[in-house]
Amino acid sequence: KNEKVEDLILKRNSLLSKSFSISYKKPLHMLEAKNQYFYDDKGREYLDCVNNISHVGHSHPKIHTAMIEQNLKLNTNTRYLYKIMNEYSEKLLSKFPKKLDTVFFVCTGSEANDLAYRIAKNYTNSKDVLVMDNAYHGHTNTLINLSPYKFKSKGGLGKKNYVHIAAMPDGLRGKWKSSEKNWVKKYIYQVKSTVEEIYKNNKTLSCFFVESILGCGGQIVLPPKYLKE
Ligand SMILES: Cc1ncc(COP(=O)(O)O)c(C=O)c1O
Repeated sequence: KNEKVEDLILKRNSLLSKSFSISYKKPLHMLEAKNQYFYDDKGREYLDCVNNISHVGHSHPKIHTAMIEQNLKLNTNTRYLYKIMNEYSEKLLSKFPKKLDTVFFVCTGSEANDLAYRIAKNYTNSKDVLVMDNAYHGHTNTLINLSPYKFKSKGGLGKKNYVHIAAMPDGLRGKWKSSEKNWVKKYIYQVKSTVEEIYKNNKTLSCFFVESILGCGGQIVLPPKYLKE
């Protein structure tokens, strides 16, 4: 607790790659986190809206206990049979629409997206992919190429020719504002013409990667019916 922020930074810089960025000009030294709050070395409480990405809050006792109990019993891969994997899959699928009826187990969002893209590519025999502007989909080489937030920013290698970008339907800061008539339709039309262009060139679209709420794009909620249309 008594360690100085400057000492922590010096030590960190001597051990970690510089590519691990630190948030804020005055970095925060966190000591604990519970529920929706962080607590720093000065005893300050922070409402956590950014910690990558909290679903049930920090240090949830139910999750913590379940993890410990299972780890003490059995923690292995999917090549063996065990009841809990079936039970968990069944429970998980009960939360999704009926047609999403198959589980793939992965450890991270990057693995999930990488696998989803691989499945889509194999199924459609196409590499072309539509992504939303400013999106981030993960840190593998493949996903950096699908993430405008990365490939368009400093050090990024630019857009690959098989990647197509949909403009964010942002009625506040986007090209078409929510005060204009039919503003959502204009964004949809932009996507339609991008897709038509792909097919005109005798290509197929493998998939559309899109977050249900555009995170890196600025926490933008998609307009109703945008995805459907
Ligand atoms: C929208 C989105 N997709 C994918 C990822 C990648 O997930 P992970 O860091 O678990 O690989 C993140 C991580 O921040 C994310 O915010």
